[in-house]
This record gives sequence, structure tokens and C-alpha cells, in this order.
Amino acid sequence: MRQKDTPSAIFRSAAAELGRILIYEAVRDWLPTVDLQVQTPLGIADATVVDPMQPIKVVPILRAGLVLLEQAAMLLPVMQTYHVGYVRNDETLEATCYLNKLPPNLATADRILVADCMLATGGTLMQVLDDLVSRGAAPEMIRVVSVVCAPPALKLLGEKYPGLTIYTAMIDAELDARGYIIPGLGDAGDRAFG
Ligand code: PRP
Repeated sequence: MRQKDTPSAIFRSAAAELGRILIYEAVRDWLPTVDLQVQTPLGIADATVVDPMQPIKVVPILRAGLVLLEQAAMLLPVMQTYHVGYVRNDETLEATCYLNKLPPNLATADRILVADCMLATGGTLMQVLDDLVSRGAAPEMIRVVSVVCAPPALKLLGEKYPGLTIYTAMIDAELDARGYIIPGLGDAGDRAFG
């Protein structure tokens, strides 16, 4: 994903693969389960299965966050997806919301998985977290998957939401003057979608 000449199709498939690995790490001790018994061809066996009555709520931050979720259904068969779209202003680095499909109300027991490829200043994710919490979500029930993070984002988010858990493939050194992660991977949305 970092290599600048990687074609979009390969970038997307690498992001999907990485997303699957990160989501697995994020949810493997977290999915609600129920215990039951199943009839095998030769007897009765105890089984623990993912509870279909308590779907994980998944929030992809468009555009780039979408590519992390392409293989998510393999791990989260009963997930509910709520898309949000944000774009960062090149000059001010302020993020603006252009799409919000979150439900009006959330519960403190809801497990929420947020996906975004990059956390640079942290401003985009901060807006999403504030919105989720204002609708009733508990910060400690939110987990984030991200390909690459920068220290300013981790500092900002950690100060306001110390209970938040972020699963990332890499923490890079810094941001440049334009707010890009260095060495990072460029503009993930453009690289994924052209
Ligand atoms: C990028 C990236 C994150 C955000 C991170 O999105 O995908 O969503 O910026 O920056 P921040 O932590 O400083 O807020 P962008 O606005 O480029 O939109 P895109 O995903 O549609 O390309």
C-alpha cells in the first residue's frame, strides 16, 4: 500500500486483506456469543456461536475507510453498517461531513467498529466519535481499525477518549506541513478510487 506505483486494484485488495486482519484482531475477544448444543451426525456437542441478536455496528468513514471493510462480512456475519462521509479541507485541515447514515439513537451496550485508513491530525475521527457519543454510544465500546496513524492523532484522541481502542498496522513518525502522514501512503481515498 505504501509503494507509490501500486495500481488502484492492488492497493484496494491489499487494504481489504489488511482490513480483514485488523478486524479479526479487533473483534476476536469482543463478539457477543451464545452457548448452545448442536446435533452432530453421531451425538450432541456443546457449541459457542456468535450471537445473531447482537450485531456489531460498523461505521466506515468514506471514502478510504470503505476499502478496509471489503472482507469484513467473513468475520462479522451479522454486522450493521452505517456509512459516514467526511472530507478534509486542504488548507485548514478541518473535516466536513457530507454523509451521515448513523441511527438517531445508540445504546451504551452497542459494540461499534469504526474504519478509516488514516488518522493524521485525528480531526475526522474526533468528529465521528463525538457524534457517536452524542447519540448514546459509550467510548469504551468503540474500537477503531486504521492502516496508518500519526502521533498527533493518537495524542488528540487519547486525551479526550482514553478508553478508546485503536487497532493499526503502523504508527508513522510525523505529519508534514500539509497534514499528510510521513512516510505514510499518500491520499488513501485517491489511491483506492482514482
Ligand atoms: C483522509 C483519511 C481520513 C482523514 C484523516 O480522508 O482517509 O479520513 O483524511 O485526516 P485527519 O486525521 O487529519 O482528519 P480525506 O479527507 O482525504 O477523504 P477521502 O478518504 O475521501 O480521500
